[in-house]
Amino acid sequence: MPKLQRVPEAHVEYAYGVYMLTPKHRLIKTMRKRYQPSIHGTKAWGAGYLLMDYLVHNRMARGARVMEIGCGWAGVSIFCARQFRAKVTAVDLDAAVFPFVDVMADLNAVQLTQKRADFTRLPGKELGAHRYIVGSDICFWDSLVKPISRMVNRALDNGTRKIVITDPGRPTFYELCDLVARKHKTTLQEWYASEPERFEGEVLEIRNG
Ligand SMILES: C[S@@+](CC[C@H](N)C(=O)[O-])C[C@H]1O[C@@H](n2cnc3c(N)ncnc32)[C@H](O)[C@@H]1O
Repeated sequence: MPKLQRVPEAHVEYAYGVYMLTPKHRLIKTMRKRYQPSIHGTKAWGAGYLLMDYLVHNRMARGARVMEIGCGWAGVSIFCARQFRAKVTAVDLDAAVFPFVDVMADLNAVQLTQKRADFTRLPGKELGAHRYIVGSDICFWDSLVKPISRMVNRALDNGTRKIVITDPGRPTFYELCDLVARKHKTTLQEWYASEPERFEGEVLEIRNG
């Protein structure tokens, strides 16, 4: 069991060494009057904590370049920066998530590179410049399955070593798993996070070579 870490005030979560504000925190409530994420980037989702737990047990090389796709509030990016001294680029299509990323990054004293982009349209060279690509809860529409599988192909063809995607277990995620397994070495495992509360889901790991 981990050391008990008391949180400084209400509506702050602490998990895997990362502090995140919850949607009920007064600062977040105020921010939401100005910024309204519209593609589900409205909180730190459980699949993000699942990915953090997986990475505790399957560590990254220190100081590597990492891209988080569909970062939302970027909890996973912050975790990678803190735990592995990773140089992280946090990518999201929705410009409205980035004010929340700023707050969470400052709260955790990390610096991230932010990029507003459609991750399904990132060119192979840019993807491949990152040793690791990670994403949590990013395959939630039918229309995302094929574009994400093509993005996986481009990243691995251009040098990315490992891609890890976590999910609560949506049908669209399993379709993605089937598609990428036809071309690449993959592992699909059930996993659970124990912080900030128990959350169960799936982890897809895709390896190069
Ligand atoms: C369910 S949220 C998950 C957020 C975060 N990964 C987490 O686990 O808390 C999905 C995120 O993916 C982003 N997103 C959806 N489609 C995208 C795309 N094509 N390119 C980039 N970001 C996308 C959304 O804006 C949103 O922030």
